[in-house]
Amino acid sequence: MEHTSPGWLSNAIFYEIYPQSFQDSNADGIGDLQGIIRRLDYIRDLGCNAIWMNPCFDSPFGDAGYDIRDYYRVAPRYGSNEDLRELFSAVHSMGMHIILDLVPGHTSYQHPWFQASMQAEENPYTHRYVWTDNGFAPPPEGFQTLRGISDRNGAAVVNFFSIQPALNYGFFAPDPKEGWQQPMDAPGPTATRQALQDIMRFWLGMGCDGFRVDMAGSLVKNDPDGRGTIALWRQIRSFMDMEFPEAVLVSEWGEPDKAIAAGFDMDFLLHFGPSHFTDLYHCETPYFSEDTRGSAKAFFTKYRQLYHDTHGSGLICMISGNHDMERMSHYLSDAEQRLAFTLLLTMPGAPFIYYGDEIGMRYQAGLPSKEGGFLRTGARTPMQWDYTPNAGFSSAPPYDLYLPVDNSPGAVRALTQQQATDSLRSEIAGLIRFRQAHRALQSLGDITLISDDVPLIYTRSCAEEVLTVIINPSDRPQMLEISRKSILYTVGGSAELRDGHIMVPGVSAVILA
Ligand code: NOJ
Ligand code: CA
Repeated sequence: MEHTSPGWLSNAIFYEIYPQSFQDSNADGIGDLQGIIRRLDYIRDLGCNAIWMNPCFDSPFGDAGYDIRDYYRVAPRYGSNEDLRELFSAVHSMGMHIILDLVPGHTSYQHPWFQASMQAEENPYTHRYVWTDNGFAPPPEGFQTLRGISDRNGAAVVNFFSIQPALNYGFFAPDPKEGWQQPMDAPGPTATRQALQDIMRFWLGMGCDGFRVDMAGSLVKNDPDGRGTIALWRQIRSFMDMEFPEAVLVSEWGEPDKAIAAGFDMDFLLHFGPSHFTDLYHCETPYFSEDTRGSAKAFFTKYRQLYHDTHGSGLICMISGNHDMERMSHYLSDAEQRLAFTLLLTMPGAPFIYYGDEIGMRYQAGLPSKEGGFLRTGARTPMQWDYTPNAGFSSAPPYDLYLPVDNSPGAVRALTQQQATDSLRSEIAGLIRFRQAHRALQSLGDITLISDDVPLIYTRSCAEEVLTVIINPSDRPQMLEISRKSILYTVGGSAELRDGHIMVPGVSAVILA
């Protein structure tokens, strides 16, 4: 049976919340679930109607919560399971949706499953993780391992940091000479899959609307084309279709053709993988720069292929940024960010806005690493709400904050941007309202690329209308021949239509009917 995505994805606009840094409600210096509940109005007023929240589960926080110790328990620093249930209902009562972060590939080394699997004696968790059969030998080629951590004669394969041992979903093509490489249908991998479904069932049953899935493409090992991992997710999808047909899945895969074949509703284009996403606004020579040093060609060449391969079966999602990269404002001026958001909010798929990007929050370069953040730390600082102490994030003393608030001269605040009609946030809210008034611009409208040079030109269409989007990142005005009749929306300058031509000012965008 083919999976059908729920209708709400057709106009979904997501807001990503890093719970540590959004809103503290109990003055301990760290964001929490009650704080998020208090700020839901802000997200709705921006125009977003869906939320993705980074992991909020019990963890020693060696990787900001991507190292889970108990999948079934909200980390006490964020609140309780009851608070999370309350967040789900608060979100739903506002007509919005919320997805949690599912980390299926690895746990914390402190997870009781891993502690049991370290034992030399056979037990129910012996095969829950990928272990080699020689604790003394160096890591097998292509793997990183933890060695010498217990008397079990083996090394535990890790997925990301060494504190994140890889759960055992088996090998697509086990090497017959390496007996420790289990096939996907061996009892160990089968039990891991069941355990994953139990976790999903628990939170979906409590009322969440689905999951963003961490490192979704790397669960099965020795699987270079992803065929094993695709088969695994298809099984999970059919479990969901039986029990939670309305639940959505978005993958951190970065290869939508594979992810959507695997049964995901949507996949992100990311700073890794083949998408060339960084060329647009996450590199030193971005396409969206006034001197147009960069190019969008590689991005759109890949995009067209991915769009062709996935059209009609799932969504390709664009992001403003996320908790794993420098913020867009690190590379683009305010005016350039407006153009990048024009693209984000006029492309197919469900857009994702990283908290604070809507006000152009700064990437705080050079901050000491926090919870495994390293260079990501500067993009994870507290949301800057207003001019009260700690920018309204927390009433704790400043030295107790999870990360420092940006108090540098000119540091932005949401409140002032909400009040000013010419702010970045107001621009984005306007673009969102416009998108929500035009089905052609939403997730499922068609796109036809006309030029991936300067300016960028594409049409978006649905049964009722065809719209043309022109984005001119260069500081020079562009004069183009055009047959379109009316200007519906402009960003950054007023385009003029005359005698079958349009003049698009430098660093501006226009949407025409
Ligand atoms: C991707 C997550 O987004 C990142 O923050 C994390 O460190 C790794 N996966 C490992 O789980
Ligand atoms: Ca708190």
